[in-house]
This record gives sequence, structure tokens and C-alpha cells, in this order.
Amino acid sequence: MRVLLIGSGGREHALAWKLAQSLMLEKLYVAPGNGGTSEVAENVLLDPADHAAVVGFAKANAVDFVVIGPDAPVVAGLGDDVRAAGIACFGPSKAAAQLEGSKSFTKALCDEMGIPTAAYRKFEAEAPALTYLRGHGTPIVIKADGLALGKGVTVAMTVDEAERAIAGCFAGQFGASGASVVIEDFLEGEEASFFVLCDGERTLPLATAQDHKRAFDGDMGPNTGGMGAYSPAAVMTPELIERTMREIIEPTVRGMRARGTPYQGVLFAGLMITREGPKLIEYNARFGDPETQPMVLRLESDLLELLHATATGNLAGKTATWRPEAALTVVVAAKGYPGHYEKGSLIGPLPAETESLKVFHAGTKRDGERLLSNGGRVLNVTALGGTVAEAKERADAAIGMIDWPEGFCRHDIGWRAILRERNAQLDG
Ligand code: AMP
Ligand code: GLY
Repeated sequence: MRVLLIGSGGREHALAWKLAQSLMLEKLYVAPGNGGTSEVAENVLLDPADHAAVVGFAKANAVDFVVIGPDAPVVAGLGDDVRAAGIACFGPSKAAAQLEGSKSFTKALCDEMGIPTAAYRKFEAEAPALTYLRGHGTPIVIKADGLALGKGVTVAMTVDEAERAIAGCFAGQFGASGASVVIEDFLEGEEASFFVLCDGERTLPLATAQDHKRAFDGDMGPNTGGMGAYSPAAVMTPELIERTMREIIEPTVRGMRARGTPYQGVLFAGLMITREGPKLIEYNARFGDPETQPMVLRLESDLLELLHATATGNLAGKTATWRPEAALTVVVAAKGYPGHYEKGSLIGPLPAETESLKVFHAGTKRDGERLLSNGGRVLNVTALGGTVAEAKERADAAIGMIDWPEGFCRHDIGWRAILRERNAQLDG
């Protein structure tokens, strides 16, 4: 099979690395890719926002299958345009991707299907939103309705903070994405990410993971795209996975079919595990970044076969098998991220790879023999271990060997799992 993967981050290097191992693969292109994807595929300079260019390249190069990595091209309907040209595509339709693209769309589906989620109200104007807020009190969560590069959510502990978030949305801080605002109740619990392949009708649960969204140790500092992740997430017991499938995922798939917009792709559920059980925080219509990086290191099955079966409605009878170890990714980012940072600094030689250690590139580019930083999140050091603690030690040791003074990372990725492991040892 000739495959074109769209995207340029650490998630795409991880997907490309795993796709490249498939016996079904004949040729892999990544557009636009990064300094890591060029090791396992051919990078092509294409703008994913230019659908005609993507389709044109796919046709000219006899591509059989397009895989979309990031959210923006999925939500913009690149999948529809690729399929319209007669090429199979992993990535839901624009209509189905509203599960990620519109918070109020997902909330309405939850209401309709009885899916557990935080109670909410949607507002199109500032004054009624402020009135509702003052009657409700804090903590409370303010969300720009549309896509906002992961920055549209404010978990407000004070009324003042909530008022500023509401004002910001209606003042155009997130452009059209903030023209309507969802205000929802604060959910208390531990968060987990859950990934399920859906072929429109059938589902195949993949794996659980936990992300670390704040920039600094101790979950302090600004929100980022994610500074590290590990898989599986111990908080997601087999019972909770079963409940999430029954109460959240299956009704979503049924609801989307009933609307005439079946969901075909990976459904990434952001969950809060509350005292009453799992509740949906949000859906994403794509794989997580950085959650994908530890997941692919654990995956034994052929990723290309699974993604193609998903895209063509053939998940029946498919299974996914996983290594028994835990996997953990530490993101090494450019100093200043998620605010202003410099690009173009020299990254020293990367540590040797083993079966238990893989350095995925997120924001890098090659300049002849040199490797240069080219983004905010730059490297994703990913390791396997018998425990999360062991995987973390391996990743930390590898990071210690990388000479890149312009970078920083968190030192406490996986802390919840490591604490659990320690407590279990003490109990045992
Ligand atoms: P989202 O972009 O919807 O994933 O929200 C970003 C982050 O805000 C989530 O990962 C949660 O940590 C937090 N968050 C969102 N909604 C809620 C909620 N209803 N209660 C508590 N925390 C939330
Ligand atoms: N790591 C969170 C996301 O991919 O949205």
C-alpha cells in the first residue's frame, strides 16, 4: 500500500515509525513531516490546508491511503475531499469531526443519548453568560465553543477569573471559535485519555493514557499541548473501560449513525474519573499528542492494517495486541514554550535507540548533518519499562545524554502512576 500521512509533530513521527513497520506498506510519504519522519518516510512539502494540493499529490503518486494526524485538517474536512477523489482516508468526515470542532455539538449529543458529562449552558452573548455565572458561583469552567489551539478552556476558581474568560471570548480572543461560549460545571476527579477505533458501526478499544498539560513540575504553569504522557493509565481499570464503552463510546457511535454522520476514525475521549464514574470532558477526532508516542511503543499489532480497516468499515474481527510493559514519553520543549521561544538551535547527537527507548521528533528539521529545533515541543523521549517508574528512569537517563541547552522538560511525568505503584508496593 502507498500511504500519505498528514502532519508534522511528534504524533506523526510516532505514527510514521509504526506504519513503516507494516508488511502491507510499499511507500510512505509524510506531509510536511519533520526531521524524524524523514528517517522512516519521504517528507513532502505540502500544506495540509490546501486540500487540492494534497489530493493532487496523492493522485499523481498513486497513493492508496491517506492518514490524517492533526485536528485542523480533520475538522476542515480534508478527509471528505480525499474520499471524494476515490482515495481511502483515515480521518472522520467534517460532519463527524464536529465532535471535536464544536463543544456545543458534543454537549447536545450527550443530552440526546444520556451520556454522562458536566452540566452546561451555551451562550451567544456576554450579558446572559455573566448573569448565569453570578448565579452559579465557582469553580466553573468557561469554554470557547470552537477549536482554539487547546487554549479556549478556563477552569476558573474565582468569579473574577471567569468574568475575564467570558469577556475574552466575546471580545474575539479566539476569533469565530469564541463567538459562542459553553459554561459547564467543574468536575472533580482524575483525568484519563481513552482511544477507540470506530469504523462507523463497530468499535475497537485501543488503549488508555494520561497526559500532563501544564508546562512545569507539580502541574504548575500555563497549559500546553501536553508535556508528557504514559500508557496505560492505571486509573482506567478494566471495569471502568467497560463502563466507558457502554455509557459513553457506544451511545456516541449510535447517535452519530442515527444522525446520518457515522463516525469513522479514532475517537479520543478525554475523561474525568469522578466518584460517580467516568464522565466525558471532551472528544477529539484524532490521535493524541503526546499520548500516541507511548501507545505506539506498546502496540504489537500492525497499525496500518488497523487504520485501513477503520477507514474502510472492516473492523469486524480485528484485535489489537499490546506489550505488557508501561510506556512513558517526556516532551523536551524549547525554553519559553508555550509562550515565545526561539527556533533553529543546534541539538546534539541523540542517544542510541533500543527496543525500550525511542526518541521521536516533534519540532525538528534537518540541515545537512545537523539537527535543528523547529517548534515549541521539540523531542519526545519515549521508553518502555516493567513499571511506569522504570520507564521514566529510562527516559530521564536518555534526556540527560542530550546536549541541547535551549530545551527544558518536566521531571515528574507519570507521578500519579508512580505514586500508585509505590503505594501498591507498600501494601504488598
Ligand atoms: P478541554 O480542552 O475541553 O480538554 O479542556 C482542557 C482541560 O480543562 C481538561 O483537560 C481539563 O483538565 C480541564 N477541564 C475541562 N472541562 C472541565 C470540567 N468540566 N471540570 C474540570 N476540569 C475541566
Ligand atoms: N494531548 C492532548 C491532545 O492531543 O489534545
